[in-house]
Amino acid sequence: MAGSRLRQLEEEVRRCTRCPLHATRTHAVPGEGPGEAGVMVVGEAPGRMEDRLGRPFVGPAGKLLDSLLELAGLSRGEVYITNVVKCRPPGNRDPREEEIEACLPYLVEQISLIRPRLVIAVGRHAGRTLFRLAGLRWPGLARARGRVWRGRIGGVELLIAVTYHPAAALYNPGLRGELERDFSGFIRRSVAEALSRGGGGGGAGLDRWFSPDSRGPGEGAGGDVDS
Ligand code: URA
Ligand code: SF4
Repeated sequence: MAGSRLRQLEEEVRRCTRCPLHATRTHAVPGEGPGEAGVMVVGEAPGRMEDRLGRPFVGPAGKLLDSLLELAGLSRGEVYITNVVKCRPPGNRDPREEEIEACLPYLVEQISLIRPRLVIAVGRHAGRTLFRLAGLRWPGLARARGRVWRGRIGGVELLIAVTYHPAAALYNPGLRGELERDFSGFIRRSVAEALSRGGGGGGAGLDRWFSPDSRGPGEGAGGDVDS
């Protein structure tokens, strides 16, 4: 079953030594949430609290994320929350390219197993990485924001929404309003659209977004989803 493989994968992450970050972590943070979540949230890497507890988004940025999810009509318990990199980089430095590469197979398999209809990428690193996995050209955070994109990752047709990282709003309070506008605006509409059409596992609901005559990923399609 996909569900038990997901829990097994989480265990593998907890024991992983594929990259040097394993040496400085307290706990790896595989991610958490329902195995059939319709929506995934992907952040950058665990911070101090996450490293301490082995759970994603449990520090100050996580508190803000919880309230943002509510603005989008979601409760934390119904989304699967994870990060591009599963172990904390020392001092919260940016993850290195080779660390991202080493860790990426876990994220791809999580997506294959969970089959979300929508992935919300918070921050530049998560957005850039998900675009790369989907074969989309990364247009920069400013252009990626504000609309929903479509792509295929790990064999799953899904929508990708990109916004700022909630931690950025802790240092730059002006961004909080922008995040709130994103989550109550285009992200909320994407969630409603993604979850509105019955059944789990990437069912019929996405068909019109991926119909053969629709423009392919990377060609500017997707605005219709947000209309
Ligand atoms: N920031 C992240 O990107 N991920 C977490 O889990 C916590 C903070
Ligand atoms: Fe393994 Fe990823 Fe942790 Fe590196 S960051 S040790 S690849 S789980």
